[in-house]
Formats: sequence, C-alpha cells, structure tokens
Amino acid sequence: MSIPGVGGLVISTMPFMCAPMTPEQKADRYAEVAKEIAAVIDGETNLIARMATVSNILHHAFGHYFWTGFYIVDPEKPEELVVGPYQGSMGCLRIPFGRGVCGAAAASREVQIVEDVHAFAGHIACDARSRSEIVLPVMNAAGELIAVFDVDSDEKSMFDDIDRAGLEPILSAAFG
Ligand code: SME
Repeated sequence: MSIPGVGGLVISTMPFMCAPMTPEQKADRYAEVAKEIAAVIDGETNLIARMATVSNILHHAFGHYFWTGFYIVDPEKPEELVVGPYQGSMGCLRIPFGRGVCGAAAASREVQIVEDVHAFAGHIACDARSRSEIVLPVMNAAGELIAVFDVDSDEKSMFDDIDRAGLEPILSAAFG
C-alpha cells in the first residue's frame, strides 16, 4: 500500500520500511517471496535471467538488503568468482576462491553469516558501508557449485538462521 506525498512523491507504507521485522514476519516474507520468484521464473531456462530475477525480487522485498547478488564460478577459471546479476552499489568484479566471505563460501560450500565484516579476516570491502552479510553456495541439479549468493547490509548483525532458512529453498528451487 502507498499514500501520495507532497509534489507527487509516493511514500511507501510497507511495514518493513517503518519498523524492524519480527522473526515471524521475516520468515513469512521469505515464504511469500519464494512463491513470487517461482511464479516469475517458471519456464525460464536462462541462468542469467533467473539470477537477475532472484536478486531483484529479494532486494526489494527486505529493508535490510543493501547489496544483493550473485558471484558466478568462472567457467574459464574454476577457482575464481566473477560478478553476476546484482542490485546495489558497484560490486567488485572478481573474487578468488578462499578470499573474503564469498570466497570462503565458494571454497567450503558452506553458508557464511558474518555479524561484523570488520572482524572477518580478509573481508573484501567493495562498499565501505557494508557491515554484515550472508553468503550461500549455489548448486546446480548435479550438486556442482555454480555461484554464491551474497547479501550485504549496512547495519551490523542483520542476518541469522531465518535468512538462511528462507534463502536456501529459494536458491535450490531456482538453480538445483
Ligand atoms: N563482501 C564480499 C565481497 C563482495 S561485495 O560485498 C559485493 C566478500 O567479502 O566476499
């Protein structure tokens, strides 16, 4: 819902813009967004189109998402990630496996939740405003790593197991 503001400016009244979400609201929002993404990408086989849609819908669904996108395993350099579809300020173009939070997720194939990026050794500061993040490995149907999905917030401690539990089924439905 939105209400008209002064001079035609539209002021959003979505609850996430006004107050932090409760854990229940956040879980519910992930469930709604999962359905929306599934409906939009249904029948679309192009990987970039699917990644662009996932980034776009998630980025605009949550107030704590500051940078949202994919780093794809480079087919020509299998130990290196190259930036894919994203929303937010300009991202670094390439990240070697093992470097930063994305590189750690790629090398370990494990979800990384970082409450304070300044305390993470080797964190890559593409945007100095990033303070916390979650990075999930993205696997294809054969169980091979094809990318990582990276979400940054400009506030500390913004990601937890609800984000992980919300994002894992979205990524496996879209790419698994
Ligand atoms: N934060 C990431 C780098 C990518 S950007 O934040 C867009 C990392 O340390 O892996």
